[in-house]
Amino acid sequence: MKHRQTRQRLAKMRRSVFLGCGSYLPEKIVTNDDLANRLDTSDEWITQRTGIRQRHIAFEDENTSDLAIEAAKVALKRASLDASEIDLVIVATATPDNTFPAVATRVQSKLGIKQGAAFDVQAACSGFIYALNTTDNMLRLGQANKALLIGSECFSRIVDWNDRGTCVLFGDGAGAVVLGTEDGDGQNTDRGVLSTHIYADGDYYEHLCTDGGPSTNGKAGVVKMEGREVFKHAAVRMAEAVETSLSRNGFLIGDVDWLVPHQANMRIMDSVAKKLSIEKSKIIVTVDQQANTSAATIPLALADAESKGRFCSGDLISLTAMGGGFTWGSALVRW
Ligand code: ACO
Repeated sequence: MKHRQTRQRLAKMRRSVFLGCGSYLPEKIVTNDDLANRLDTSDEWITQRTGIRQRHIAFEDENTSDLAIEAAKVALKRASLDASEIDLVIVATATPDNTFPAVATRVQSKLGIKQGAAFDVQAACSGFIYALNTTDNMLRLGQANKALLIGSECFSRIVDWNDRGTCVLFGDGAGAVVLGTEDGDGQNTDRGVLSTHIYADGDYYEHLCTDGGPSTNGKAGVVKMEGREVFKHAAVRMAEAVETSLSRNGFLIGDVDWLVPHQANMRIMDSVAKKLSIEKSKIIVTVDQQANTSAATIPLALADAESKGRFCSGDLISLTAMGGGFTWGSALVRW
């Protein structure tokens, strides 16, 4: 009898659960036609190659932390939590206000959070998945109880606005999620984060990077990208990462209710969908309205879908991203 009780207790597993999502997009919208007025490009070219129709661009006096704080306030409200209950703040970003300290510390201060840790995670467009991995591990280990996880970017600050090959692709914005914990049974029917999977291959460092940095030339630099190489790897790696998360948890693609891919480009998402054989109707798409906001795309897409009531409790949601490094990864979540 004693033996059976011990086994039952061990079977309990602490899971990280999503409690609320929020987003913030700067008011200023720049359409493809706006860009075509000052660059040798067209709405037709951008829409056909990327699916992007417009992007939000931060005003000069808006920083990554400002966007993050606004998104966090919405997420906290949706989670019905007071900021004072948060004991972990992680911001995924490649465009911090300052080289240091971390954006997360400013968010922590401005929200009046007086406890726990606050730091940034930098994995370019995969930043949210990397940060979710860290958050999930800390929550499951009991190193924190309530976490605020934010993807926030002012990518417009690091694009060359005269380079039509890159500037048309990006936008600014922030998405935030609040996570707490719940006891599960350790089964794939549990609510919450079922698993996360993160990867990198630094041999591709030069294929997607900025041409500056604090220890090289003392500047932030601007985005340099080998578009076709990025395209090829993004489609393959994101599909692979999703498949790994499914097989690790005993699922098939047909079990997935929603796929939330990093929103780089509609054609990359189409290619991932084709490789996985998942219906396009199951893919959350925001790239048309928001363009590529790097580490913010996934939490922005989650907030968009949640606010439209698209997710139901118990839905199986697959998240995946790929970005500079190259870095990539996936997460499987039961809503
Ligand atoms: N408007 C008009 N013409 C353009 C533009 C533009 N905005 N940009 C490039 N072109 C031209 C090029 O100059 C080239 O002209 P040329 O034939 O006279 O030399 C022509 O279009 C084709 O250029 P390519 O770069 O070969 O175009 P491609 O079909 O590869 O499409 C694109 C470019 C959309 C960037 C594609 O490579 C792509 O989607 N790559 C993925 C990159 C991406 O999404 N990166 C985001 C960051 S990474 C991430 O988040 C995962």
